[in-house]
Amino acid sequence: MRKPLVAGNWKMNKTIAETRDLVFTMSMKLRKIEGVEKVICPPFMSLMAASALLEGSGIGLGAQNMHWEEKGAFTGEVSPAMVKELCGYVILGHSERRSYFGETDQTVNRKLLAAQAMDLVPIVCVGETLEQYESKLTREIVSAQTSQSLRDVAPAYAPRMIVAYEPVWAIGTGKASNGPEANDVVKDVIRPALAELFGNETAQAIRVLYGGSVTSANADEFFSQPDIDGALVGGASLKIDEFVAITKAAASTEA
Ligand code: PGA
Repeated sequence: MRKPLVAGNWKMNKTIAETRDLVFTMSMKLRKIEGVEKVICPPFMSLMAASALLEGSGIGLGAQNMHWEEKGAFTGEVSPAMVKELCGYVILGHSERRSYFGETDQTVNRKLLAAQAMDLVPIVCVGETLEQYESKLTREIVSAQTSQSLRDVAPAYAPRMIVAYEPVWAIGTGKASNGPEANDVVKDVIRPALAELFGNETAQAIRVLYGGSVTSANADEFFSQPDIDGALVGGASLKIDEFVAITKAAASTEA
């Protein structure tokens, strides 16, 4: 059984003071929801404040990125050990990192192996652009991203990984994919790529989230799909009632 998971990617939003307010109120409501793994991913600057507020809440904390090197002359970067001090999770290879900051499947893979060494739970993002979608390249692109970003992972660590299928054209656009279409990509492309890497049993154990304009209005449509195990939520994760409603929707799908 794959436990549903809902993660909020705050992106570059909220100061430390704003984080305190949001986490304080949100965690009161989230902590009562059972049957779903809950994670919030504020900006690096706010992780310390969020971690203090989340202690004992059962709500996980994640970073939105990290470097793969242990330490050294990498101005502006954050190391895996620094993330590990405060977080249990880390988002890797988000499409905004790929498109604005030059991340590739190769750099995402280096980060993933660093996450493995630190025993962090990675949320590895894959997904096709609008152009690729319109050219009907979704399967090819997502399959290649999955096999290259997730290669060389140890079999024992593989089931702990989380993959997020995020069609780039659905991110922040208000134009979500639809349940059956997203489920098909997970079932026919991502899980077979995972099976190729780690065997079928492990591929069935790895949780795959959908991301891209998830709201309380469409969450059920995605969560009712057999191969979708939760969501990576951007914009709606900054709104308390929305994020709580999405989390509740995921909890109700636990068998
Ligand atoms: P969105 O972002 O929910 O605002 O579309 C999702 C994401 O980027 O993870």
